[in-house]
Amino acid sequence: METRIENIRNFAILSHIDHGKSTLADRFLEITATVQKEKMKPQFLDSMDIERERGITIKMKPVRMVYNLLGEKFILNLIDTPGHVDFSYEVSRSLAAVEGAILLVDATKGIQAQTLANLDLAQKQKLAIIPVVNKIDMPQARIEETVQELADLLKVDKEEVIKISAKLGINIDNVLLNVIKKIPAPKKENINKPFKALIFDSEYNSYQGVVAYVRIVEGTIQKGEKIQLVATKTAAEAKELGFFKPEPLVQEKLVAGEIGYIATGIKEPNKTRVGDTIIKSQNIGSITPLSGYKEPQPVVFASLYPQRPEEFDLLKEALGKLKLNDPSLIFEPETKESLGRGFRCGFLGTLHVEIVSERLYREFGPNLVISSPSVVFRVNDKLIYSASDWPEDNVIKKTEELWVFLEIITPIKYMAGILEILKNLEGKYVDTKYIGLEKVVLCYEIPLRAIVGNLYDKIKSVSQGYASMSYKILDFKEADLVKMEVLIAGQKKEAFSKIVVRNKVFSEGRKMVEKLKEVLPPQQFPVAIQAVMGGKIIARETIKARRKDVTGYLYGGDYTRKRKLLEKQKKGKKILKEKGEVRIPSKVFLEVFKS
Ligand code: GTP
Repeated sequence: METRIENIRNFAILSHIDHGKSTLADRFLEITATVQKEKMKPQFLDSMDIERERGITIKMKPVRMVYNLLGEKFILNLIDTPGHVDFSYEVSRSLAAVEGAILLVDATKGIQAQTLANLDLAQKQKLAIIPVVNKIDMPQARIEETVQELADLLKVDKEEVIKISAKLGINIDNVLLNVIKKIPAPKKENINKPFKALIFDSEYNSYQGVVAYVRIVEGTIQKGEKIQLVATKTAAEAKELGFFKPEPLVQEKLVAGEIGYIATGIKEPNKTRVGDTIIKSQNIGSITPLSGYKEPQPVVFASLYPQRPEEFDLLKEALGKLKLNDPSLIFEPETKESLGRGFRCGFLGTLHVEIVSERLYREFGPNLVISSPSVVFRVNDKLIYSASDWPEDNVIKKTEELWVFLEIITPIKYMAGILEILKNLEGKYVDTKYIGLEKVVLCYEIPLRAIVGNLYDKIKSVSQGYASMSYKILDFKEADLVKMEVLIAGQKKEAFSKIVVRNKVFSEGRKMVEKLKEVLPPQQFPVAIQAVMGGKIIARETIKARRKDVTGYLYGGDYTRKRKLLEKQKKGKKILKEKGEVRIPSKVFLEVFKS
């Protein structure tokens, strides 16, 4: 059946983390019978293992649904987006492909930091916004207060805010009705223009090469037509195209206003870039490309090395393919005497480092050495991305670090606990603003380092999950910084080196050796773990040797054989100890950096 453009609605769901986006998407999938009942499972669109294990959305996910309203068929293209700030690039990209957004707020939490940050992104794109308050079934829901907060924020009447329970399926039809009523259809006049599509996401598929996720902005594309990716000047063919149901559903053509995919057959991942425009080859030179996306700015850097040097190429290929699916990941090759050949990578936050490392390992296989995630520093006016590039003490004249403007939104009753955390960050108080009568926004300037040091988790735990934060990068400021190193069994393990503020180096050293003692698997010999600054040991722990019963299978009283075996074991341990080889599994690096 031919789709009428007037009956298409393209939209995203935006909210703070955990306010119920994926659950609401589940209800949409059910109501529109997009997914068969027996195949339905909670948070259906979170299809990656890591997403399901952790209960968070990492990837945006498009899906096309058909909804019947009073006998008329509407095509609803939904893009489910992540809520965590580390994945906000996913959100900003999906917003460029739609005309409207549902702004979902949890009635037990009210407006939180990512509600505001995501709304800001949507308003910049001039999207139609549909305010929705979720979780009205919960006993602790503060429904009327949340409706008021949202109405004030958007400057609309309270009656416009829709109250729902995504979990129990209350009032969901009303949300879809508003999607149809308030979100504009794509512009009809764009159908007859020359073909132009925006790549908002992509993935690699070994049969089809690069599959571009596209919003058709103008014109029509048919299967088999010759295409060009404008920015990378890559020629290709629309080998297959289709919609997301959410699995791929093959079509003969895609028309302006639609969201779908084009399989390009391109085998080199770096030939595709999100934000790029696809046109038809015949129109090369005569079409202005779309404006594309602002490059994301990495805030955390970590180096990734293959544990086995021969896996360097495997890691390189894996990073290239993962980048197609996660364009906010930035990497370039580097060689370090202490670590070998690897990649310096830029990330949007520490959760991003964790997720990327885990995805690399799970989806592509290489075992990794991961250096301590670090913010960028400046020494003698030169940028330093990794502790392993920190210069020797005697040449250092000036050390600086980046600062951020931080906003924390919290109910007033948790303010004291939050101020206590902020006091220890050596930041600068800027302002306090009020949201209604019970919430405040605390504005501070603090070193970016504090944010990478799990500030978000601390704020959440002191406020039982009610406070939230967002930040913007400011500029560099002078700071007294030193390099802390780690020796394991007497050998320097450069990956654990870390840049810290001088007055915290002892506590940081203690924390590091204690954590390593907890997570390093015991060896056949005792292993010393030492934290060192400028050649001086500042903290030390020892992991006891793993006892292995080498005589267990002997029975009876043959003492000579038993002694011989024990002596052999002792000798073996001595050799091992001299070699001092402690292999560190990928998991250990992640555990240490998470703590
Ligand atoms: P991220 O994508 O990770 O930001 O999370 P999300 O916004 O998609 O939230 P998700 O749908 O994963 O829901 C978070 C939690 O809230 C889950 O445990 C849901 O079962 C629960 N939840 C969602 N909607 C409702 C609701 O209406 N009522 C109740 N009681 N629980 C809900």
